[in-house]
Amino acid sequence: GAPVEADISKIESGAMITVEWRGKPVWLINRSQEMMAALTQHDDKLSDPKLEVTTQQPAYCQNASRSIKSNLMVLVGICTHLGCSPSPKLQAGNEMGADWPGGFFCPCHGSRFDLAGRVFKGSPAPINLVVPPHKYLNDNLLLIG
Ligand code: FES
Repeated sequence: GAPVEADISKIESGAMITVEWRGKPVWLINRSQEMMAALTQHDDKLSDPKLEVTTQQPAYCQNASRSIKSNLMVLVGICTHLGCSPSPKLQAGNEMGADWPGGFFCPCHGSRFDLAGRVFKGSPAPINLVVPPHKYLNDNLLLIG
């Protein structure tokens, strides 16, 4: 499949858009400062907080935010359990529970992921969501693939 360009300039802080790449949904999430701060608070609840399964992200996203620009998260929106597409539950708390830091919930068998696509312990999904290969063509334009 061909690489796909995406304009990230219109994604409001705290929001996301979905683009298609190789027939898969790719999420582009503009994480707010509150969301970024929350990411550092729950390593003990994650299966692989330090990204030891290195197949799940390119080397240039092998960092605390799993991203090139710290706020902008790029994720393949396909559950690493059996391939459903998890639902965005971006905001903290709400129906996901008071301690929910924001992330994604897979309706098929209940896997939970944070806003860096890292899987929570106790989920059927064994590993973190995939960060696809990508690069910035300029401040506003992202190339996926
Ligand atoms: Fe997502 Fe099973 S496919 S939890």
